[in-house]
Amino acid sequence: MSSWRDTTCGALSEADVGKRVTLAGWVDTRRDHGGLVFIDLRDFSGKVQLVVNTPEVAKEIRNEFVVQVEGEVVNRAPEAVNPNLSTGGIEVRVEALRIVSRSTPLPFQVGDDVDDVLRLRYRWLDMRSDRMQRNLRLSHTVIAGIRRAMDDMGFVDVWTPSMTKGTPEGARDFLVPIRLQPGTFYALAQSPQLFKQLCMIGGLDRYYQIATCWRDEDLRADRQFEFRQLDLEMSFVDREDVLDVMEEAVVGAFVAAGREPPPRPFPRLGYAEAMAKYGSDKPDLRFGLEIEDATELTRASEFGVFKSAPTVRYIVAPRAYSRAELGRLEEIAKEWGAKGLAYLVNDGGELRSPIAKYLSEDELKQLQPQPGNTALFVADEEATVSRVLGGLRLHLARELELMETGEELFHWIVDFPLFERDEDTGQWTFLHHPFTAPMPGHEGFEADPGSALSQHYDLIWNGWELGSGSIRIHDADMQQAVFRVMGMPEEEQHAKFGFLLEALAMGAPPHGGFAMGIERFVTRMAGEPDLRQIVAFPKIASGSDPLTGGPTPMPDSVLKELGIRALQAQAPDDR
Ligand code: AMO
Ligand code: AMP
Repeated sequence: MSSWRDTTCGALSEADVGKRVTLAGWVDTRRDHGGLVFIDLRDFSGKVQLVVNTPEVAKEIRNEFVVQVEGEVVNRAPEAVNPNLSTGGIEVRVEALRIVSRSTPLPFQVGDDVDDVLRLRYRWLDMRSDRMQRNLRLSHTVIAGIRRAMDDMGFVDVWTPSMTKGTPEGARDFLVPIRLQPGTFYALAQSPQLFKQLCMIGGLDRYYQIATCWRDEDLRADRQFEFRQLDLEMSFVDREDVLDVMEEAVVGAFVAAGREPPPRPFPRLGYAEAMAKYGSDKPDLRFGLEIEDATELTRASEFGVFKSAPTVRYIVAPRAYSRAELGRLEEIAKEWGAKGLAYLVNDGGELRSPIAKYLSEDELKQLQPQPGNTALFVADEEATVSRVLGGLRLHLARELELMETGEELFHWIVDFPLFERDEDTGQWTFLHHPFTAPMPGHEGFEADPGSALSQHYDLIWNGWELGSGSIRIHDADMQQAVFRVMGMPEEEQHAKFGFLLEALAMGAPPHGGFAMGIERFVTRMAGEPDLRQIVAFPKIASGSDPLTGGPTPMPDSVLKELGIRALQAQAPDDR
């Protein structure tokens, strides 16, 4: 191999017994047995036990020193065999040992379960752990599988700019000042959305990219400032063609990772049904707890709350909750905006409920849960009912441990509305971005924006939104109609999107595409709870990078050249 080593730690097995080997790696652990010192030597491929009988040299050695050894592979004594280690049947009897580089005392032992920020501060140490080695390698494998699938399907990898004119994905932009034009800024691309559409107008037919995107958002378990998308766009296609390609890419990733791929086609669920049954546009379908409707049934109820509310819905939980538990659930429901949480508990045949006395025989017959169950009711505007019961559904599933079924459920949400009302201004606005085409038959959306459906679709994996896409508008007039519904005057349309309108007017093919968040996908593949576990050098919630100490203020001289003056530099807190 090289002068440093002729094999690797994890590659050794009983088949190598009798061979002389040269290894190099890190000292994982060191156990001093007087005359003999045992060292677990680690490299990227695994660990192997070394037996050193020159204690003088071994005495100097500490964890995470880099050493090079020469020695003979021998069988371990039967009582020393470690069945948990792939090299557990053998050890290397060391004849020469050399310290290659030393380590200062460690802030934590590699692989120890310490605070995330500390791990990120010393990511180079943390990366030596099994967990990080596994996750970073899985990330590579998944992306390689996706690239192979995309190549097989005839997609062309095109690089699009990171520095662009402000992009329209709805998050805040990161800005890049331009020294040559002081006081002006590019935005870092929130996605390659418009460039990929231009590639279709440019006749490329099938574009893809593992594209880095930047969004100035609050960081959460499933969000980073910087992330990558499997971004793709195709010409002369319908929705089903795009979904088919995405499923193929997901399957390609599973196969590359050596895992059983999810069965295809992934089920499709309408947006309206998802919101009504699960109170979410990214429902977790691994468990039931479906939301049921009682609006019609309680139209003429004696219970005023039910009678007067526009929507009454409920969930039946498989548990006869106590009063105290119900009080806690009501508090949770109120946090999500409910006015109350009415209930019917069937405690072994006996009904407990403050509202039963108001309900008619017919209402009780239909709404009363089975023995050992509780029906939980929310009455309100439909959107509030969905939000509260959707949240409660997830809460109950977590509490009742219904989620970790081991099943991997992929599904599509389809038939989204084209527009929604902006909560602050009341203005119609797009649900995802303004380039989504209406559903066939809904082209007249300007007359009644609220009831138009779109050709947008989302991909969901066990309740996580993995990605979204749509069939796009390929007609300049229709594109302008969308801008008009959004209240965007003609001049603003041209100032912001003039290049798109021009391109659409010069022979645009019908096209559509998709973008899947790579880090979200790999995080789920790895069974990890958040993106930080699979991103090599992530940021923390405050926006800081604990490793390099960024971001930092810049000298006035630098800013001046860019035509910028900093009003303040805020010290980051340590989260
Ligand atoms: P969208 O904005 O839905 O669509 O983004 C697609 C997917 O990108 C991932 N993602 C993120 N991952 C980590 N951190 C973030 N801050 C973050 N933001 C988004 C998610 C999300 O589902 N141009 C359109 C796609 C299209 O229409 O083709 C777009 O970007 O997994
Ligand atoms: P009240 O008559 O206001 O004391 O309410 C009786 C029960 O109905 C209590 O359990 C409340 O939590 C519940 N309740 C009140 N308002 C609502 C509502 N909008 N939706 C569901 N339950 C409610």
